[in-house]
This record gives sequence, C-alpha cells and structure tokens, in this order.
Amino acid sequence: MNIRENIPIADLTTMRLGGAARYVIDIKTEDEVAEAYAFAAQKQLPVYVLGYGSNIIGRDKGFNGVVLVNQIKGMGAQTPERTGNVELFSYSGEILDDFVTYGTKLGYSGMEAMSAIPGTVGAAPVQNVGAYGQDIAQSLVSVTAYDTKTAKFVELPKDQLDLGYRHSIFNSGSEIGRYFITKITVKLHRGQLEPPFYTSLQAYVDEHKITDYSPDSIRKCVRAVREGKLPDPLSIASSGSFFKNVYLNAEEAKAAEAKGIPVWDGGKIPSGWLIENAGLKGKEFFGMRVSDKAALVLINESAKTYADLAKARQAIIDAVYAKFGYRLEQEPMELGDESWKNWMVAN
Ligand code: EPU
Repeated sequence: MNIRENIPIADLTTMRLGGAARYVIDIKTEDEVAEAYAFAAQKQLPVYVLGYGSNIIGRDKGFNGVVLVNQIKGMGAQTPERTGNVELFSYSGEILDDFVTYGTKLGYSGMEAMSAIPGTVGAAPVQNVGAYGQDIAQSLVSVTAYDTKTAKFVELPKDQLDLGYRHSIFNSGSEIGRYFITKITVKLHRGQLEPPFYTSLQAYVDEHKITDYSPDSIRKCVRAVREGKLPDPLSIASSGSFFKNVYLNAEEAKAAEAKGIPVWDGGKIPSGWLIENAGLKGKEFFGMRVSDKAALVLINESAKTYADLAKARQAIIDAVYAKFGYRLEQEPMELGDESWKNWMVAN
C-alpha cells in the first residue's frame, strides 16, 4: 500500500482547486480497502473516497484526513445472456465510459446514453449519474461495498440505495461515508432506445439524419453532442454541470410556465436556461467562466483558490435569483464538507 503525504487536492480533482490532503492512498485491490481504513482508524482521521475527481471540489484548507483514490480494475459478465438480458459487472476504479463501451460493443442497451461522462464506475451509484434520459438507477442491480461499520464486504441491492436525482444513501443521510463501493452489477438488454430521445440528443439525430438507434450508434451520437458543449476535464478545468437543475412541484411549475420559463417533464427547469437568460453565459467571475457553450458548466480559467470559486458561485446564484426568484444549488460535492463529521472511522 503506497501512502503519500500532503498532496494538493487540486492535483486530484478536475476543477483543480483545494489545499493539501494529509494522506493519499491509491487503492488497487479489495484487501487494500480494509488496510487503508485500518490505517485511518489508527491515525484517528476521517476518510474520503475519490475516483476520477470529476465531481468533487477541494477547499482551500485542504483535508486533514485520508483520501483513498479508487483504482480497483476489472469487468466482465456476471451472468450469461438469458432471454435477451445480461448482467455485467465492473470494479469501481474502472472509468465509467469504458464500462459503457464494454456493454454497447456487446450490443446491449441500458447505458449507452451515459457515454463519455467523466468519472469512475464507483462514483456512478453515489450520485446516480445520468445523462440524456438514462441514469445508472435504470440498469443497476446491486453494489458490492466494504462496510466500515462491520469491516465486511456486503452486497447492497438497488432498492436499498434510495436512488434519486443526483442522490443516494452514499451522498445523503446518515450512511454517508459508511461504504467503499468496490463493484457494481448492471442488467442490460438486447435492444435499443427508441425516439423521441432527450431534447439535445433528438436534435442531433434529426440534424444528422441518423436512423441507426443501436447502442453503439447512440453512443457515438451522445459523444458528439457532449464534445460539442462539455469541456474535456483533461484539458479544461471544470466539474461538468456546476448547478443542479431546479425541480418544482405542480403548483410552482404552473407559476413558472405562466412567467414564460421552460418547464420540462412537468417539473424541471433547466438551470442552464436560467443562467443564460440572466445574461451570464460566457461571463467571467473571479477567474471562473460560465461556459459559452453550456451555461450550467463553470470553467476554472485562472482561479487559484476555493474562495474565488465561492465568490463566483455567489455572484451567479444572486443574479439568477434577482432575475427569476430561484436559488440555484451546487451540484458537485466538496471534500471536507462538515456534514461528513460522522466519517470518523470507529472500528
Ligand atoms: N440551456 C440553455 N442554455 C445553456 C444550456 C442549457 O438555455 O447554455 C437549456 C436548454 O433549453 C437545453 C436545456 O437547458 O435544452 C437542457 O440542457 P442540456 O440538455 O445540455 O442538459 P442540462 O440540464 O444542462 C443535464 C445534466 C448533465 C447531463 C445533461 C444531458 C444536471 C445538473 N446536468 O444537463 O450532467 O449530461 O443533462 O442529460 O443534471 C453533470 O451532472 O455534470 C452533467 C454534465
């Protein structure tokens, strides 16, 4: 087990901000998971699990704890195909897009719209990642995880995970920090998505007169849509969508529509629309730029500190609130969030 000390969180995350983490351990095997938690317990330090670092933001004060960087690899078929369905598994340190590709190349549908989402497989259930009308909840069967409470590996079926919009037991509620996800199993099927597709995907399919809706073809379309507007985290510092979309109840949705604000699926306002129509698209605040291609994305052009990001965030939230009366909420998580105090490993 390789333990590194005082590593900037900026170097471990795609937004490239944040002070030092006290210890960083690369986890390559299941045995190392247990070893790393034992190390943290011995040091009496909290643990945070990182994958690709594409949806997590470091704070200036850093993290006086142990960051575990998940690099457990491997994927395959959990069960052979039965009546058009197959169960595939992936260890959690794999890149999510590699797992998506594995399924689509075999000709199975269920994850193809999640192509090119930056991040690891293990992060997918944490915030129920999704794009273009699909989320991992739709295909997930179960998650295998190390339970820090019992120091045992457990299999958690999907219905125990409380999956919702960017939400699960892993990022909300009393179980935060309890589990280290080591493996996920998904159920995919022979078949394809059928139109109408998610708005921006449909627009691409129409424009390019695509008639092949096979998983591999849809995967290529999604990649093209994403490349057109979402920055590649390897070359441009960002955390993807920086704000959540706004979800409304029926009454609020009616009121929004009456004001000419677009409401999708009976209750969702695309926050990108709010930001663009507040006149903020392409604008720069404290070294952070609102992407001129996708207003929901904040790009770190020259900000050096979390404090700059916080000021930029406040300026955007205030401007949208002043214009439309909705308070945007941040989508990425933050390393060292105080609500994670219960992460101190007890055993
Ligand atoms: N819009 C604008 N201006 C913009 C951007 C968007 O007006 O600059 C409006 C348009 O009406 C557009 C609508 O917002 O049609 C929706 O935009 P888009 O399809 O790009 O999706 P999104 O709501 O911005 C969400 C997810 C993305 C995911 C896409 C596609 C969240 C916070 N974001 O974005 O996920 O890839 O849908 O499914 O739910 C992420 O979470 O990091 C992420 C990239």
